[in-house]
Amino acid sequence: SLQPVILSGGSGTRLWPLSREAYPKQFLPLTSEHTMLQETVLRLDGLDAEHPRHAVGLAAPLLICNDAHRFLVAEQLRVIGVEAACIVLEPKGRNTAPALTLAALAATQDDEDPILLVMPADHTIRNESGFRAAVADAYLLAREGAVVTFGIVPSKPETGYGYIRQGRVYQAEGLAGRAYALDGFVEKPDAETAQGYLASGDYLWNSGIFVLKASLWLGLVERFCPDIAQAVGKAFVAATEDGDFLRLDADLFGASPSDSIDYAVMERLCGPDADADDLASAVVIPLDVGWSDVGAWSALWEVREQDAAGNVLDGDAFVHNARNNLLMANHRMVAAVGVDDLILVETPDAVLVASKESAQDVKAVIQFLQRQG
Ligand code: GDD
Ligand code: MG
Repeated sequence: SLQPVILSGGSGTRLWPLSREAYPKQFLPLTSEHTMLQETVLRLDGLDAEHPRHAVGLAAPLLICNDAHRFLVAEQLRVIGVEAACIVLEPKGRNTAPALTLAALAATQDDEDPILLVMPADHTIRNESGFRAAVADAYLLAREGAVVTFGIVPSKPETGYGYIRQGRVYQAEGLAGRAYALDGFVEKPDAETAQGYLASGDYLWNSGIFVLKASLWLGLVERFCPDIAQAVGKAFVAATEDGDFLRLDADLFGASPSDSIDYAVMERLCGPDADADDLASAVVIPLDVGWSDVGAWSALWEVREQDAAGNVLDGDAFVHNARNNLLMANHRMVAAVGVDDLILVETPDAVLVASKESAQDVKAVIQFLQRQG
């Protein structure tokens, strides 16, 4: 069966002031009436029905989030009528490699060796059926032992993403779409390197979505990051069940090194420690489905439907002689007159005004607030 694993522990600070530590981006309804977490779960509806010949067998989702967000997660699933297989609670985030290791251990309890579909909880995908078709193909490949990644055609030399080098066509029986050998993986290169990758035309962005067997992930972690495997293994054995929640001891889980899937395993899979089998098993499926990780307000403006003047108005917002703005007004009326390319986000206790091209710099506000304590 295919076990969705939803990574929901991030903090999304570049979407301040709506996204906060206590209420991060994945729990906000940014792209539809559903929150991004709900969208992530709902996007899989129809997978089995649309691809009967792939015989996927979609399981109930497994979530990994911070302990502080357990009621948010439980409530948001309840609202859409979804029962989680398990909600694993991290006392403190140790980044995605320990999180996925926990998920793999938890998922292996019920099923012999499920295939994991690892999904960030805070991405948007416009063409959902296209995404499901790619996932169905990934399932076939992962069943044969592949590590499947999903690549996005890059549009700018973004340094916040991983880059995947696309190799020759990957042959496999029963695929509906295309798959390619993965010839290299570089997480968050510097600007010059990213520019080179873009110019070469050989690279795709890593979408952050992966499909692989639970046992394969556990084996890779053991090999490349034995410290994570050991600490998370110990924490998992001592975890306590509380309804749907699985709670970890803060000291035991905290003993794990903090590292991401991408640095801890994906880069190593293509690095000097890898052997020929590793490389032969790594695959990339190109995704052309309107993917965005909504990393900043400008990205939200891009993915939301714009009116004839290019404005995105959310809530009680009014514009006059204004073009290409994003206005988020949910607590009071906001009006913009004669301004272009602006971001305006109001909340009860803070208001952001920024030019769209400076959307990434919102993190300066976070740094300022952290200094203030
Ligand atoms: N449970 C849990 N615990 N989840 C976490 C943790 C953690 O400690 N840290 C992050 N997450 C979740 C986030 O909520 C997000 O859904 C996902 O894991 C990815 O983490 P990010 O912190 O957003 O990663 P990134 O954006 O820097 O980079 C990743 O995504 C890019 C695409 O958006 C990498 O996979 C890149 O290679 C990729 O290009
Ligand atoms: Mg991200």
